[in-house]
Amino acid sequence: MTELLARTVSVAKQGNILVATVDNPPVNALSHSVRSGLIAAVKALESDAEAHAMVIVCDGRTFIAGADIHEFKKPMVAPLLGEVIDTLDAATKPIVAAIHGTALGGGLEVALACSYRIALEGSKVGLPEVKLGILPGSGGTVRLPRLAGVEQALAMISEGGQISARDAQEKGIVDEVVSGDLKEAAIAFTGKVIADGARLRRTSDLPVPAFDAAVLEMSRAALAKKYKGFKAPLVAVDLIKMVTETPVAEAIALEYKTCKELLVSPQSKALRHIFAAEREALKIDGVDAGVKPRDVKKVAIVGPGTMGRGIASCFLNIGIPVTLIGLTDEGLASAVRAIGKIYEGSVKRGSLSSEEMERRMALLTPTTSYDGIADVDLVIEAVTEDMAVKKDVFAKLDAVLRNDAIVATNTSFLDIEELAGSSRNPARVAGMHFFNPANVMKLLENVRAASTAADVLATTTALGKRLGKVPVMVGRSEGFVANRMLSKRTREAQFLLEDGATPLQVDRVLTAFGFPIGPFALADLAGMDIMAAARAARVARMSLREQQCNIVDRLVAAGRLGQKSGAGYYVYDENRKASHDPAVDELLEAHRKERGFTARTISDEEILERCLFAMVNEAAKILDEGAAARPSDIDVIWTNGFGFPTYLGGPMFYADQVGLPKVKAALDKYAGLVGDQYFKPAALIERLVAEGKGFYG
Ligand code: CAA
Repeated sequence: MTELLARTVSVAKQGNILVATVDNPPVNALSHSVRSGLIAAVKALESDAEAHAMVIVCDGRTFIAGADIHEFKKPMVAPLLGEVIDTLDAATKPIVAAIHGTALGGGLEVALACSYRIALEGSKVGLPEVKLGILPGSGGTVRLPRLAGVEQALAMISEGGQISARDAQEKGIVDEVVSGDLKEAAIAFTGKVIADGARLRRTSDLPVPAFDAAVLEMSRAALAKKYKGFKAPLVAVDLIKMVTETPVAEAIALEYKTCKELLVSPQSKALRHIFAAEREALKIDGVDAGVKPRDVKKVAIVGPGTMGRGIASCFLNIGIPVTLIGLTDEGLASAVRAIGKIYEGSVKRGSLSSEEMERRMALLTPTTSYDGIADVDLVIEAVTEDMAVKKDVFAKLDAVLRNDAIVATNTSFLDIEELAGSSRNPARVAGMHFFNPANVMKLLENVRAASTAADVLATTTALGKRLGKVPVMVGRSEGFVANRMLSKRTREAQFLLEDGATPLQVDRVLTAFGFPIGPFALADLAGMDIMAAARAARVARMSLREQQCNIVDRLVAAGRLGQKSGAGYYVYDENRKASHDPAVDELLEAHRKERGFTARTISDEEILERCLFAMVNEAAKILDEGAAARPSDIDVIWTNGFGFPTYLGGPMFYADQVGLPKVKAALDKYAGLVGDQYFKPAALIERLVAEGKGFYG
């Protein structure tokens, strides 16, 4: 008979085993009801003389995936997770955690406080708290090193990665990996535990295994480099050090205190904002959540250039066959070689087997003909950024595709409405804007036209997630959201050079802010010829000052093409290390002289404000036009597309933290200094400031 102990936890008896089942969709998070239910389950176990052991198992897609993040914003209501863990730890009969899906954060802490853990093949465990700017707060840092060793625990806690059940078994975290019916396997396992004398195994009773203290310091240095700007990974090192030196009860109390302090830190607030924002971005404005995505089993990609190759590999990675259409056999052969090279790199690094590489390459069909794609479900065109060329491709596709096949364009700035309008079936046209290199970059800017069918939008979103990308739906807008905002930062960076800043100063300020690379180092990496071509494509739509601000063209004329020619905004040594080049000072001074600018000393504050607030101002216009549905979508775009530090929450979240009145005052100041046409505060900012609100209310 099943007894409901709390809204989300029930128990049932199977012989002498009590089975506690957690059912709290979507991810069985440790909400108040689950916490109360688990304590009640242990009490039921203790009070039932016929029950000799208990299994904790979860319904739905996963074992407990952690604390309930939604409760973080409010004061926690007892019983807290620590009490649940203490109750499990103090149980006088063995408890077995039966893991499927993911046991994460508080979920793994629950499992670690049990006597035994069994896991379904394919499941994963981890302590991902660091990704939310916090650390385990209910014994995770105390128990995991005792089972897996200090080094392994530190790696998992400081980086927040997940490991497979098999790995977890090897590391001593999981006792058995099973396949088939988990509940049955857990009951069988628990039966054996009872037959063996129902031995309790408290993780907290174990000693911390010996370890090399130098490892902690080495990890600290490596983490500081890899997670520059992030606080929690370094605190993790201190915490683990403390745990290895402190008795269990005291260590648990100190761990809790540390976690509580981190929870109210600005970084945690920002990282939790991004976690929620990425999930919110999957909900398409105006499209009912019940709209089913179409099935995508086969795709074609038109255009075997840099983007087409990267996009093709994204699909091959998830086992979807790709027909790659090009104009010439040579172009296709070069694309196939380039895709092969991507995989060869992975095989060399050991992250891919050569068999898997062969499997993926076998899914690729290069062809110069459109004839063989009548049965594909989706085509992505990645041909040259020319409306006429793209329309020609659309016409060819219309002639061969099934009516329900989706046509997506990878355009980065052409008008989506015009493209959709050119199709025989505008409802099937959408944008899927990948970023270069497409096989690496997480951001996928999906674009909607007014005519795009709701299930096509649902498909591009679902597909983005399947491809391991972070998809965000945007609307019609030149450069969409990401590049439109970037172009404003690029423009300001150029104007700052005219006003007297140096490339080094601008890059230093923006990397100190938290961007992984400054705009000028990035331009040198991309290549000045590419930057010049992008500028030429837009020059007719630029303001006069922008048109005349032709520093990029001057660099190209001087043969300074960036890293590839050994010099661009910087000069590069044989190891591609950049240094300041007085020749660039001269080139800039000549430009200023010609253009009538006198260099002045520019403060770091001005550089930061002009670069960031120009973007924020443009984002406000984008929001008002409806090209982005919500400010959080813009934050997701910038943190995933251009390395805006996640611990600052994205440009819109950051602007709210600065305070919109301060942002508006800065915009007004720069409107006076640089020009109204560049810095006049957007109408949305004016309105929000007048209403005493921020982008987030
Ligand atoms: N609390 C509340 N809701 C959560 C949640 C959590 N810990 N984790 C996920 N969800 C919600 C998501 O917001 C989403 O909700 P909507 O459908 O309403 O948008 C839904 O569950 C599904 O999430 P995903 O889209 O991410 O689903 P997925 O299948 O791709 O991934 C997952 C599932 C791997 C569990 C992923 O959601 C995940 O990584 N979750 C976060 C896990 C985590 O960080 N746990 C640690 C929390 S802190 C802690 O536990 C320690 C402590 O006490 C302080």
